[in-house]
Amino acid sequence: MNFVFPDKAGFYYNTRKNMSIQKIAKRITTHVLYEMKLRGEKIAMLTAYDYSMARILDQAGIDVILVGDSASNVMAGHETTVPITLNEMIYHASGVVRAVKRALVVVDLPFGTYQGNSKEALSSSIRIMKETGAHAVKMEGGAEIRESVERILSAGIPVMAHLGLTPQSIHKFGTYIVRATDQNEAEKLVSDSEILEKSGVFALVLEKIPASLGEKVAKSLKIPVIGIGAGNKVDGQVLVLHDMLGITQEFSPRFLRRYHNLFQEIYGAVKMYIQDVRDIDFPNEKEQY
Ligand code: KIV
Repeated sequence: MNFVFPDKAGFYYNTRKNMSIQKIAKRITTHVLYEMKLRGEKIAMLTAYDYSMARILDQAGIDVILVGDSASNVMAGHETTVPITLNEMIYHASGVVRAVKRALVVVDLPFGTYQGNSKEALSSSIRIMKETGAHAVKMEGGAEIRESVERILSAGIPVMAHLGLTPQSIHKFGTYIVRATDQNEAEKLVSDSEILEKSGVFALVLEKIPASLGEKVAKSLKIPVIGIGAGNKVDGQVLVLHDMLGITQEFSPRFLRRYHNLFQEIYGAVKMYIQDVRDIDFPNEKEQY
C-alpha cells in the first residue's frame, strides 16, 4: 500500500512498494490560498524572474511566485517599472513556469498593456497565459480597473490586484513615500479594495501603507491580502527577491528585511576567480583533460 504524507514545505512523499520515495507537489491554487486565509495560515510570496531562482524558491516551499514588473529594475536596470514590455515579461515568466512544480505563478501586466481599455487588458492577459503557462495575472489600481478585471475573469483568468504604493504610477505620485496616511486616501483604498473583491479578484497586494490600515482591509475582506510594507496583520507577505537576498544594495526601505548579503558573497567569489585565473591556479591538473 502507498503512504502519502506532506512535509512542512507542502511537498507530498509517496512511498512505493519498492520503498523508493517519490516527491509529489500538491499545487497551490487560488482556492488553496483562500483556505489558508480561513485557517489563519500565512502566505509566503516572493518575486522571481528566471528558471534557476524560481527552482530554488519552489523547492523551498514558497506558496506564490510573482513575476513582478520589478524585473524592470532588478533585471534590466531601469529606474522605474514603467519601461518593461509585455514581451520581456513573457520571457521572464516562461522561465519561471518551467521551473515550478508547486507554487502559484502570478505575472504582472506591465505598464501600458491594460490601462487603455478592458479589451486590451484581456488580450495582454491572454498572451501571458498562452505564452508562459502562468496561473494568474496581477494589475495595479482600484475602481478604474474594475471593467478590465471582470472581462479578464470572464475568460477564466484569475486576477490579483495591487493597491497602496503602485509603482507604475510613480510619475503621478512623484515619490515612493508611504501611501494612504491621510483619511481621504485611506478611505479610497478601503472602498477600492471592496470594489476589487466584488469584481472577483482572488487576492490583493497592499504596498507601503500604515499597518493599521493593512489590518483593517485584511479583516474586512474574504480574499487573501498580501502585504509589502503593510504590517504583519495581513494574510501574507511578499518581498522582491533581489532585495531580500541582498543582491541590490541601494534600496533600503524600512519594510525590507535582508536575509543575506549575496552581493558580498558573489563579489568575493568573483574576486577569488579573477585571482586564480591570473595566478594560473585555475584550472589545476584535476580540472583539465
Ligand atoms: O513588481 C513587483 O515586484 C511587485 C511587488 C513589489 C509586489 O509588484
